[in-house]
Amino acid sequence: MANSFLSFPILGSFLLLLFAISGGSLRPANGQASGQGVWCIARPSTSDQALTDNINYACGIVNCSLIQPGGSCFYPTSLMNHASVVMNLYYQKAGRHYWNCDFKNSGLTVVTDPSYGDCKYQYAL
Ligand SMILES: *[C@@H]1O[C@H](CO)[C@@H](O)[C@H](O)[C@H]1NC(C)=O
Repeated sequence: MANSFLSFPILGSFLLLLFAISGGSLRPANGQASGQGVWCIARPSTSDQALTDNINYACGIVNCSLIQPGGSCFYPTSLMNHASVVMNLYYQKAGRHYWNCDFKNSGLTVVTDPSYGDCKYQYAL
């Protein structure tokens, strides 16, 4: 009798502990619940030089065929568009840590999918 009275809080604490431990691993990376997303784009005021640098940097690491002629994100052919697409590819590939979208403070994380038309911004590579 005394045993069952005492064991419940112990068992309860144990289950709470298990829940707390497993809670982190039930979610995708960086605490995003499924159905949500975080993308990286170029900050609107970024200079053409910085955008070009970001494209060159990202395209040394990810496949940039999306922003090349024939790619689904080639149009509009602006540095801002092209940089945003490949900065996001890099951000996703690198693991979506906040510093993966820093790009010397020219990157911006957004929670609204920036995809347009056939140009799909990837989430979770
Ligand atoms: C890049 O992606 C395109 C389209 O998926 C593919 O055809 C091409 O082979 C890839 N290039 C490299 C270097 O992986």
